[in-house]
Amino acid sequence: MAGGIALVQGASRGLGLQFCKHLVRSQQCTQVIATCREPQAAAALQELKRQHPNLLTIVRLDVSSHLAIQQCAQQVALMCGSLDLLINSAAMLHPSGKGETSLRDVSAEGISLALSTNTIGPLLMAKYFAPLLLKGTGAFGLQSSDRSNQHSAILINMSAKVGSITDNGLGGWYSYRMSKAALNMATKNTSIELSRGSKKVICVSLHPGTVDTDLSRPYQKNVPKEKLFSPELSVNYLMNVIQGLSIDQTGKFFSWNGSEIPW
Ligand SMILES: NC(=O)c1ccc[n+]([C@@H]2O[C@H](COP(=O)([O-])OP(=O)(O)OC[C@H]3O[C@@H](n4cnc5c(N)ncnc54)[C@H](OP(=O)(O)O)[C@@H]3O)[C@@H](O)[C@H]2O)c1
Repeated sequence: MAGGIALVQGASRGLGLQFCKHLVRSQQCTQVIATCREPQAAAALQELKRQHPNLLTIVRLDVSSHLAIQQCAQQVALMCGSLDLLINSAAMLHPSGKGETSLRDVSAEGISLALSTNTIGPLLMAKYFAPLLLKGTGAFGLQSSDRSNQHSAILINMSAKVGSITDNGLGGWYSYRMSKAALNMATKNTSIELSRGSKKVICVSLHPGTVDTDLSRPYQKNVPKEKLFSPELSVNYLMNVIQGLSIDQTGKFFSWNGSEIPW
């Protein structure tokens, strides 16, 4: 199958950067678009661009800006006209870098900023990029043998197991948990809307495991060594899950090992 066009939103560091590294080396892409809010400050992404100048394009995008998302979608539409894979990776635990441990720590500003980046941004990405995803060539995932049930593209919302209401036994982290639970609802809603027509987009939420990035750094000392994944390992697992997706799995929440996580 011919290669596809992928866009990774939140690609300056962590898992977003690693998705870009994986995709440019995978020989599965004809083009990889990496978005981040400060391209000049994203040294590792710029280095990747130097290594793959024809394959990788960096586009400025602050996902907390509605207007910036709209303009980015217009720019990508002019550049490539369609998309086969969109990964929403950017997120914050809390503006302070640490999740709330009790109601005492909760602030309207903290929750608003987390929701803006973790939930509203990815949903507006779906809104403005849906026309490009619906024109995709189905280059990623497993195609159904039934031609009327084939998908044109895949939309990934990077979520977190702590966003599962069923799984929540510890409490705390109000902003992050709420933002991911709401993101999961956005995934489900989007999956329903984008599979109604003859063109279909697979929409899923993914949990990457606990990964050695800036986001988890304040909490890593509590994680057993074998349970803390490198970004490379996590993205290898996640790309396996992505390549195994078919339209009958749309609207679900999967972990790095392909197991389904309850909402
Ligand atoms: N690491 C884990 O253990 C873990 C576990 C479960 C789920 N996840 C999820 O996996 C995804 C990736 O997390 P990570 O560990 O890679 O996090 P990370 O290393 O902290 O990276 C966060 C990324 O989000 C970007 N970002 C933040 N706000 C932004 C904004 N307004 N506009 C554009 N980009 C913005 C950052 O860009 P700047 O460089 O510009 O700040 C950075 O690229 C997230 O959705 C996270 O919730 C991670």
